[in-house]
Amino acid sequence: MPDPLLKWREEFPILGKKTYLINNSLGAMPRGVRDGLKHFADMWDNDGVVAWHYPDGSGWLDDCERTADLIGSVMGAPRGSVMLHLNVATLTAQVLSTIDFTGKRNKIVYDDMQFTSPHYVVQEWARYGAKIEMVKSDDGIGVDVQKLVDAIDEHTALVPISHVYFRSSFLQDVQPIIDKAHKVGAKVLLDVYQSIGTVPFDVTQMKVDYVVGGSVKWVCGGPNVCYLYIRPDLITTYNPALTGWISHARPFKFEMEFTPHAGAWRASTGTPPVVALYSARPGYEIIRQVGLADIRAKSQRLTQHLIEHALEAGFKVNTPLDPARRGGTVCIDWPGADLAEQKLIDRGFVIDYRPKGGIRVSPHFYNTQEECDAILAEMKKLRR
Ligand SMILES: Cc1ncc(COP(=O)(O)O)c(C=O)c1O
Repeated sequence: MPDPLLKWREEFPILGKKTYLINNSLGAMPRGVRDGLKHFADMWDNDGVVAWHYPDGSGWLDDCERTADLIGSVMGAPRGSVMLHLNVATLTAQVLSTIDFTGKRNKIVYDDMQFTSPHYVVQEWARYGAKIEMVKSDDGIGVDVQKLVDAIDEHTALVPISHVYFRSSFLQDVQPIIDKAHKVGAKVLLDVYQSIGTVPFDVTQMKVDYVVGGSVKWVCGGPNVCYLYIRPDLITTYNPALTGWISHARPFKFEMEFTPHAGAWRASTGTPPVVALYSARPGYEIIRQVGLADIRAKSQRLTQHLIEHALEAGFKVNTPLDPARRGGTVCIDWPGADLAEQKLIDRGFVIDYRPKGGIRVSPHFYNTQEECDAILAEMKKLRR
């Protein structure tokens, strides 16, 4: 059966040079990124500071807003509810800075499968009085959703959790967590970095409070463009301690009294990621055009193929076997897999290795089944 998604391969030049299967870490660069970055350089070179804002609405700040709305449209967020920032660590700190941890509602509930950036930030919040309850994974792959639900109580302020776990690609069933949090008056900060671009979801339907994510990985963008979605009814009460001049209602008036921006850009802090957004936009556009239903169907097909053949060959698979509970990655492990990482890269297979996970193989919509078979064959050789 011909695979219509393979027509996109020509948009990603690296696919002609490498077996590129590391889309959980850094997606392939769309060819449009070069033009995007040139467009930025041309504006700076030709117009200098005027490029911040052209009268026709095509300047850097307008492009920031447009790009935020574009990534928002990938996750079902209404216009104006998403803003751009630099990384998830800072955005996690900012969301935490909206909460007063000196009162009775001082608990943070999360689990031990979170990415290190938000995990480290959450741990540090103990210094401001946060009581941290970490639910443990039983198998190093997933976390029992019921345990998370049970840990959330009327003392809980925030539940900062991942949609898909970076180490195992476990797709958490987040709706019961969001529903329980809302029942007891807590909020949920959902990290969608490992799900956006490969798993379809809709933040409006989920009724989730806050969403963070970034651009490298499945949406095929460059580094330093992250984003925060704030549920529209929460925007006017979102008042972080971590703020800055672009968060102001009138940034270019340089008023000494702080008046927050009326929309999501109140989360902006200082200068936004202008250069980086031009490296992220082409990927967002392609993901929109390809469509998440088709991307997900292909991801489930290729990850299933990888899992079946890896198990048949005697590898350990540290990823959910149930396709409904799986993101886009298959973690394949064996004693010595850590040493195989560099050898695979030297042989043209771009992947990575994570302790307790294994070699992470992450096919995207532009990969072929033959590429999956080729890496399995190479891993078998290396294991010998
Ligand atoms: C789930 C998840 N969250 C966040 C990040 C990145 O965090 P930061 O933007 O702070 O580098 C990653 C990977 O890089 C991730 O896998």
